[in-house]
Amino acid sequence: MGFLDDMRELSSVSVGLLKNPGAFIREFALLIRNDPESYYDFLGDDVLEAQDSGFSKDQKPLWLNLGYWEMARTYPEACADLARRLARAARLGEGDVVLDAGFGFGEQDLLWVQEFDVARIIGVNVTQLHVDVARKRVEARGLSDRIDLRLASATDIPLEAGSVDKVVALESAFHFPTREDFFREAFRILKPGGRLATADCMPWVGEKPTGLINWLGWRRWGVPQENIYDREVYQQKLEAHGFVDVEVESIRHHVFPGMHRYAEKRHSGVEMDRIEVEISPQDVENVLGVEMWRKQGGLTDYVIFSAVKP
Ligand SMILES: C[S@@+](CC[C@H](N)C(=O)[O-])C[C@H]1O[C@@H](n2cnc3c(N)ncnc32)[C@H](O)[C@@H]1O
Repeated sequence: MGFLDDMRELSSVSVGLLKNPGAFIREFALLIRNDPESYYDFLGDDVLEAQDSGFSKDQKPLWLNLGYWEMARTYPEACADLARRLARAARLGEGDVVLDAGFGFGEQDLLWVQEFDVARIIGVNVTQLHVDVARKRVEARGLSDRIDLRLASATDIPLEAGSVDKVVALESAFHFPTREDFFREAFRILKPGGRLATADCMPWVGEKPTGLINWLGWRRWGVPQENIYDREVYQQKLEAHGFVDVEVESIRHHVFPGMHRYAEKRHSGVEMDRIEVEISPQDVENVLGVEMWRKQGGLTDYVIFSAVKP
């Protein structure tokens, strides 16, 4: 986007915000704070903005990712499929001790214990709200002895060197200050032969998003500018931190279109549990929805990585 496009976009957003002083103050605060905690406090119990129901619905699934929609047609199932996809990339299995960086409300941890029979998960998260709610949910299912959730950053993990079999980050590493500091920590805490796997957002190969609108987006969502690089650079950085056997797969065709169709329905007022999306082959081929991401931060690729500590 050029400077004029930036200005056009910015003035239309500003006019809207000036009509709503509450939203104006909130947006201003998000930009000043520039951290993921503020953004997730604002989101509340829903992945989509303005859909928070204040934790008033006991049974509401509390996923906070974009979902993997190859087969799934409901939001919770798409999120669970993304968690399963990442678990397979990490080769999660019986007896594994796992570090989960950025666990949201802990949905994936419950799934990994139940479906992959991992022995123990230690989760770290910087958002107090997520830690509090996720701990309660784990406790309610009687799994506190296997899922230990802590307030800490993925860039400073309170674990000893060589203490875990797997490190996973489900749609969270783009937030970490910085993602490379997380790679360093992951390498440190993994046992030799252990594996790191991430599901992560980044620019499409060769794209270098710049400009005021993107910069404002990164600040609003708490995404450090140092994390804005494509999957080829990502792989080089993993290798530079000592990882080997790096596997890289872009799954954006099965992420953005489904989320786009889901958000359309949800924003028109339909409840999450009543939405079944339709995704056409053209939607998949055209990566429907990706243009919105290009305009708002330029994170137009969605990739699953896996890498081994030798
Ligand atoms: C998009 S949400 C994904 C949540 C969850 N993995 C899911 O799929 O539902 C990103 C998560 O990363 C967490 N996060 C952001 N920065 C972090 C950091 N430095 N260390 C640990 N967690 C962080 C956020 O609080 C949030 O829970």
